[in-house]
Amino acid sequence: MAQPPADVSEDDCLPEYHHLFCPDLLQDKVAFITGGGSGIGFRIAEIFMRHGCHTVIASRSLPRVSMAARKLATATGRRCLPLSLDVRAPLAVAAAVEQALQEFGKIDILINCAAGNFLCPASSLSSNAFKTVMDIDTLGTFNVSRVLYEKFFRDHGGVIVNITATLGARGQVLQVHAGSAKAAVDAMTRHLAVEWGPQNIRVNSLAPGPISGTEGLRRLGSGQRAARLVHSPLSDPRPATRPPAQPECQTQQSQPSI
Ligand code: HXC
Ligand code: NAP
Repeated sequence: MAQPPADVSEDDCLPEYHHLFCPDLLQDKVAFITGGGSGIGFRIAEIFMRHGCHTVIASRSLPRVSMAARKLATATGRRCLPLSLDVRAPLAVAAAVEQALQEFGKIDILINCAAGNFLCPASSLSSNAFKTVMDIDTLGTFNVSRVLYEKFFRDHGGVIVNITATLGARGQVLQVHAGSAKAAVDAMTRHLAVEWGPQNIRVNSLAPGPISGTEGLRRLGSGQRAARLVHSPLSDPRPATRPPAQPECQTQQSQPSI
C-alpha cells in the first residue's frame, strides 16, 4: 500500500505530475480559491493550473499567498494572483473579487476552502471560540459565494465547490465547533444548489477524509491520537470494551419452561 507523504511545514508543488484528466480540461478558466495559499487549497490550485486554469488564491496572510503564487506560477506556467482578505469581512471580499475581475475579466470557479479549527472540549469552548469557527467556515463561505454571485455568477453562471468535512456525520469529540460549521456549509450547498442551479450555477460540497501533510490533520494530531479522535464510542464499540458475550445456549436454558 502507498505510504502517506511526509509532513511538511510549507507547501511545495509536486516534483512530477501525471495528468489525471485531459491536460487542457480547464484551459483558460479562472478559479478563485480561498485558503489557496496552503494545504488542500494550495494543491487544488496546483492541479487546476496543471490543467490550464489561471487562479486567484486569497487568504489573510499576503506573504503566504504571495509566496505560494510564485511557486504555483513557476511550476505550471499559468497565472496566479495572490490577494489578502478575511472571508469574515464582506467589504474586503468584494474588493478582492473586483481586483480579480479586473485582472482576468472573469471568474469561472469558486473554491471555498478557507477554514479555522482546533481541538477543544465542548465544556471549555467559549462562545466566541465557537462563533469564530462558524464565522470563518460558514459565514465566510456564504460571504464569498454571495459576492461572487452578485459580481459575476448571476449574469454568467459558474461553479462553486465548498470544502467541508465528515466530522459532523456521526459526531466527533473535541470538534463540535468545526463539525457544526461544516454541517451548516453542507446545508448551504443544498440550498444554493436549488436556488442558483436554474441560473446555471452549479454548487457542490466536497468532504475530504483526513489528509496527511496538512495543517488540518496536524491540528487533530497524528497517529494514535487522530485514530482515537475518529473513533466514536457510540457507534463502533471495540471488542475489549464490550461486556463478555453470553453463550446463546445458556440463555435458552435459563428460559422458564412452560
Ligand atoms: C480553545 C481557542 C483555541 C483553542 C482559539 N480559541 N484557539 N479556544 N482552544 N486551541 C478561541 C480564543 O480563545 C477566542 O475565544 C476565539 O477562539 C478566537 O480566537 P482568535 O485567536 O482571536 O481567532 P482568530 O485570530 O480569528 O484565529 C482563528 C483560529 C486560528 C481558528 C482560532 O487557529 C486560525 O487562524 N486558524 C486558521 C488555520 C486553521 O485552523 N487550519 C486548519 C483548518 S482544517 P475567546 O473566548 O478567548 O475570545 C479543518 C479540519 C477539518 O478545518 C477536519 C479535518 C479531518
Ligand atoms: P490550512 O492549510 O490551514 O488551510 C486553511 C486556509 O484558510 C489557510 O490557507 C488560511 O490562510 C485560510 N484562512 C483561515 N482563516 C481565514 C479567514 N478568516 N479568511 C481567509 N482565509 C482564511 O488547512 P487544510 O488542512 O489544508 O484545510 C483546508 C480545507 O480542507 C479546510 O476547509 C478544512 O476544513 C478542509 N478539510 C481538511 C482536512 C484535512 O485533513 N486537512 C479534512 C477535511 C476537510 P491564512 O492563515 O493566511 O488566512
